[in-house]
Amino acid sequence: MSSKKKQAADKAAEKIDELRAEIEEHNYRYHVLDDPVISDSRYDGLIRALEKLEGEYPELVTSSSPTQRVGGAPVDRFEAVDHRMPMLSLNNAFSPEAVAEFDRRCREGAGRAAICYVAEPKIDGLAISLTYEQGELTRAATRGDGRTGEDVTLNVRSIPSVPLQLRRGWTPRLLDVRGEVFMPVAGFQMLNEQQKARDEKLYANPRNAAAGSLRQLDSKICAQRPLSFFCYAVGTWQGSDQPGTQMQMLEKLREFGLPVNPLAREVNGLDACLEYYQEILALRDKLEYEIDGVVYKVSSIGDQQVLGSVSRAPRWAMAHKFPAQEETTVVKAIEVQVGRSGALTPVARLDPVFVGGVTVSNATLHNASEIERLDVRIGDTVVIRRAGDVIPEVVSVVLEHRRRGARRFRFPSECPVCRSSICSDEGGVIQRCSGGLVCSAQLKESIKHFASRLALDIEGLGAKLVEQLVDSGRVKTPADLFSLSAAEFAELERMGEKSAENLIASLEKSRQTTLPRFLFALGIPQVGEATAQTLAQSFGTLEELLAAPVGSLETVPDVGPVVALEIRRFFDQTHNQQVIDALRQHGVTWPEINPVATPAGGFAGKTVVITGTLPNLSRDQARRWLIEQGAKVSGSISSRTDYLVAGADPGSKYDKAVSLGIEVLEEHEMKAIADKAQP
Ligand code: IVH
Repeated sequence: MSSKKKQAADKAAEKIDELRAEIEEHNYRYHVLDDPVISDSRYDGLIRALEKLEGEYPELVTSSSPTQRVGGAPVDRFEAVDHRMPMLSLNNAFSPEAVAEFDRRCREGAGRAAICYVAEPKIDGLAISLTYEQGELTRAATRGDGRTGEDVTLNVRSIPSVPLQLRRGWTPRLLDVRGEVFMPVAGFQMLNEQQKARDEKLYANPRNAAAGSLRQLDSKICAQRPLSFFCYAVGTWQGSDQPGTQMQMLEKLREFGLPVNPLAREVNGLDACLEYYQEILALRDKLEYEIDGVVYKVSSIGDQQVLGSVSRAPRWAMAHKFPAQEETTVVKAIEVQVGRSGALTPVARLDPVFVGGVTVSNATLHNASEIERLDVRIGDTVVIRRAGDVIPEVVSVVLEHRRRGARRFRFPSECPVCRSSICSDEGGVIQRCSGGLVCSAQLKESIKHFASRLALDIEGLGAKLVEQLVDSGRVKTPADLFSLSAAEFAELERMGEKSAENLIASLEKSRQTTLPRFLFALGIPQVGEATAQTLAQSFGTLEELLAAPVGSLETVPDVGPVVALEIRRFFDQTHNQQVIDALRQHGVTWPEINPVATPAGGFAGKTVVITGTLPNLSRDQARRWLIEQGAKVSGSISSRTDYLVAGADPGSKYDKAVSLGIEVLEEHEMKAIADKAQP
């Protein structure tokens, strides 16, 4: 090699080292510290620069380079590999008493008055063992039967939060670390949407999706799956500085660049364990990933050794499980419900089952194509799921339990309540009754909504009463509620004179309302409580709003073209105008609002998109500032965009804006426009 060439190669090698170190530092900040300092596009830029250099000097490519996460030909099957130390399982506790018993055994076994534990969430994913030799990831294996697992190294290498190389300062020559591979809920939902679009099989839950992804024989497919990883234990640690406690161990693993759950912490004694359990249970539905309990581990490694393990589970650790969010039960019938907007929702009537902390006897099947996708039949055993406040739903059919008599459900061809025809909506997914308020089911739901707490808040007008009022023909629109007398109410079932008078009194009270409540009560499609609030604030009076063209509706924050159109359509319907007039004639009224003055600023009525990192304002600050200046801030560039505000590292939005000839502003130019418009 000529000396010039050698010099260039040395320089490239140096640059490659620098880039790798920089990328690894950003990986560490992002995945371990959860504190990224650069944008995704800047990060991608570093990777591209490294790829380019490595392309020029292929001899400098190493297997742990950040560019080498994905590669290798698809395999026929996974090789079986023996674990150096068996991968243990955990004993489960389902009650505080069982945890107390565990604590007692630990104290007795270790000969201590009180025990310090490390508590952490129990991630609902799959266990994996990672081997690092001389700091480099050399093998990743599934748990298998605990002794022998499957070699899934190629797939695990593609998981961004798994370091290919431990950070500088790693010490163990050989480290066998255990953890959980999982799929965050948002990633799971996105994956299922993609699968659906490609007509491929949907995964029942994030755990199955994670398992299915890790078992892909082609690692390029696995690489596209949004998998993540937390480590929580060590199988083998060959090196001098063995940690003395579980917590120290987690801290060391974190220093080595391995992601550790930030919710892991030391808790002293039984009560603190139980408090931790309650705390995490309350967090459960807010976490980005699914958990099915918490795990307590004796923190002192010495005590762990004294306690040892019995049959495949350590004596020093215990999983304290949360109530299951999924259970199986039998579908007794399938019925179709008609919602306020006419949407027809098939509902499975179930043998009651205790799930997610309550007894559930109905679960939604969403729509006709969902029934088809699940192939659920009457008489089937199904998995139902109730997570947090979400409506219980049917997740899958347990086909092994399908009985001979299981019957297919036929979706009705007309509205089951009013016999009106059915039309398809939203790409044919949603079936809707075309009857409008002629359909007593839609009318009932509309009245219930009208009277609900966040709407006109008519106390004492419960569902049963609404049903009677509609079925008897006394109420055909919400306005009719106000023309009934106490005597007429008293004629209804389970209504005494006293309750009839109370109802009249609460109707009287509800007449005096607010514009946001009134707008919300009308049940305009897509207009929830928050939108009703902003509409009221923006227009100030109902008259202004009724007269607003679609264009000015669209300038309201959070009102997009679809919602603007829905609002306009609603107010254009004679029937709705009549109901509004009638309500006002019955004395429904509200205090005036001073509309938020639409600034005469340069952004009034303008649609603006933001991209890149601005020098002074965060995205959210910039968005709010623009809205205050009268702008409508949108997420994507279209021909209707007036300005693109661009900061450092703009993405594809920039190119698109330029190609459409949209004016691009820097932060200071954006400020200048507003300043200039000041009176
Ligand atoms: S500790 C010896 N900690 O739960 C310690 N396990 O039901 C063994 N799991 O096989 C495991 N989150 O796959 C531990 N924070 C956590 C965990 C956890 C999830 C899984 C793991 C294990 C299974 C046992």
